[in-house]
Amino acid sequence: MTNSEHSTSKATLQTRSDVRLWANLCDIFTFIKQGLIAAKTTGTVAPSSRALALYMVETSQLALARTIVEFGPGTGAITEVILENAASNSIFLAIEINPEFATALRKKYPALHIFEDSAANVQTHLNELGVNSCDCIISGLPWALFEEPLQTQILDAAWNVLAPGGRFVTFTYFFSLWTRGGKRFRHLLNARFKNHVELSPIIWQNFPPARVYCATKLD
Ligand SMILES: C[S@@+](CC[C@H](N)C(=O)[O-])C[C@H]1O[C@@H](n2cnc3c(N)ncnc32)[C@H](O)[C@@H]1O
Repeated sequence: MTNSEHSTSKATLQTRSDVRLWANLCDIFTFIKQGLIAAKTTGTVAPSSRALALYMVETSQLALARTIVEFGPGTGAITEVILENAASNSIFLAIEINPEFATALRKKYPALHIFEDSAANVQTHLNELGVNSCDCIISGLPWALFEEPLQTQILDAAWNVLAPGGRFVTFTYFFSLWTRGGKRFRHLLNARFKNHVELSPIIWQNFPPARVYCATKLD
């Protein structure tokens, strides 16, 4: 490589990392804004870390799934890792209730099936893509902030669309386990999945630190 080629490729790498840094800053800005104006549905002020996303994707056995659903993708922190690991012939759809997040995500991933709606309507959107069920659901929803009717409605919808053996993976901030909404969600999740639910250790490389529930539809 000549000196000038070397400088050009270094400059290209620098530009790419600048673009990435800028994109991450934009995501954080969008989160802070939505965390303030739509606190009850956003539930946080920062996107999930790559460490948390990788843990969720591994736990979900995503690489084996033919149909994958993401609830509440936000700015796409987990979406990115799902796309990296999903089988090339799989169907992947994301359901996001917040218009600003949905618009930002469409710009990032124009080919992705993004539905601007409540996760409660997952069955309708699967049907729109010509499928009835899915093998895995990865959720970023702020369950601990939801009232009981909404927790039940979305959990029922998730259970109904999951194929036998399918996995439902979701995270919770570690302190949410002791809140009223967090305790109720844990109880409802165990009841729905007949105690086939595992809870991970704390993932410290996330802000705030989080734990991951993995529920399997066994019977
Ligand atoms: C805690 S943020 C997680 C965002 C992203 N998955 C991440 O981990 O960085 C919660 C996300 O769920 C979305 N959300 C909240 N309620 C929802 C619902 N009923 N249906 C679909 N998305 C919802 C919010 O708009 C937000 O994007």
